[in-house]
Amino acid sequence: MAHIAEAVIDRISDRIDCLVAGHRPGHGLARAFYHDPEIYRRDMERVFRRHWHCIAHESVIPNVNDFEVFRIDTEQVIVTRAADGSIHAVLNVCRHRGAEVCTKQKGNARVFVCPYHAWTYGNDGSLRAARLMPKDFKREDHGLKTLHVRVVEGLIFISFADQPLDFSEAEHLLHATCGQYGWASARVAHRETYPVAANWKLAVENYVECYHCGPAHPEYSQTHALEQPSHMIEAMNAAMEQRTGELGIEIGSGNHWQTSREGREAIHAFRYALYEGVQSGSEDGKAVAPLMGRFSDFDGGVTSIHLGGTTFLVCYPDHGMIYRFIPKSPETCEMELIWLVDGSAEAGRDYDLEKLTWLWKVTTAEDKTIIEHTARGVQSHYFVPGPIAPMEHNELRYIDWYLDEISRPEGASA
Ligand code: FES
Ligand code: FE
Repeated sequence: MAHIAEAVIDRISDRIDCLVAGHRPGHGLARAFYHDPEIYRRDMERVFRRHWHCIAHESVIPNVNDFEVFRIDTEQVIVTRAADGSIHAVLNVCRHRGAEVCTKQKGNARVFVCPYHAWTYGNDGSLRAARLMPKDFKREDHGLKTLHVRVVEGLIFISFADQPLDFSEAEHLLHATCGQYGWASARVAHRETYPVAANWKLAVENYVECYHCGPAHPEYSQTHALEQPSHMIEAMNAAMEQRTGELGIEIGSGNHWQTSREGREAIHAFRYALYEGVQSGSEDGKAVAPLMGRFSDFDGGVTSIHLGGTTFLVCYPDHGMIYRFIPKSPETCEMELIWLVDGSAEAGRDYDLEKLTWLWKVTTAEDKTIIEHTARGVQSHYFVPGPIAPMEHNELRYIDWYLDEISRPEGASA
């Protein structure tokens, strides 16, 4: 039986390897990558269970014993704040017979009592009590599975991997970017989840390129100048950097978008200017919340960060955005948008929630529509991926990275 199962796995691997080998450089991905269940399983193994993901900002669990449950594909992760203030991520799967130990979406609990046979876990995942078990039963061997956690500038990152990728480069760049915008003391002003009838990669690919911004996002294109000729963009960026410098702020950037071959997490941080006179990403380009972090004025710039394949961050001087991509099935995913403001800012007094969230709500609703148009289009047996445009260079980079990630054996570093 075992060798039949191995032969089947070999055939699946061969098929995926053939699809990767058949990829035409400089072009989009073929149809199978957007609906094939075996490729989806490979994505979960190589991207989701290998890389780091930002799951939340820590202000969603501000108090000791606060918790919230997050769902990614078939996994449920309980993120908790323990008695000493430390943050933990544990799987919501009882170590007895697998029931969900936490049945609420969020709340405050010192312990989780499994509803089935009442095994009781601390909110750090340790098993505290198990009724009527033999004397030699070892509670310490039966804690909930814990995931690796790093909290950087208030962002909670998790990794499912036994040996997580080196996060130090990412951490350094997050301090040099989000740190300058004061994200460690920010708080979540709003969260919105968009269910999308498309494979998760169609949603990410759409996010990383702005070739579509002109035709698809008239509102966003009023303030974000990504489609201008390169000499104009360069002049605008230079003026922005000068303004940032005059504010006494130095914001890091850097392209460390390597594959995980070397055992390191991928991160790319870059800056770009908004149109002249624009302060923030909003309907009219004006400020929508109090300045954050080290900013004493607006510099007319944006800092954008891509991390680990599913985490995307956008920093404006008065608010921040966390963009999470969450796979649900081969042909469905969710996008969660999280708006951050200064920790002391209050809705109604310091900002208007409608104004704060307007631009990215409008933009994301438009994105959902075009992603779903694409999901239906690429179902065609006759779909042949076309050439990637020069403006889609980030998408090209993402596709090359993705293909390398899924074509290496699990856990292999080279
Ligand atoms: Fe949780 Fe039995 S399944 S106590
Ligand atoms: Fe878009």
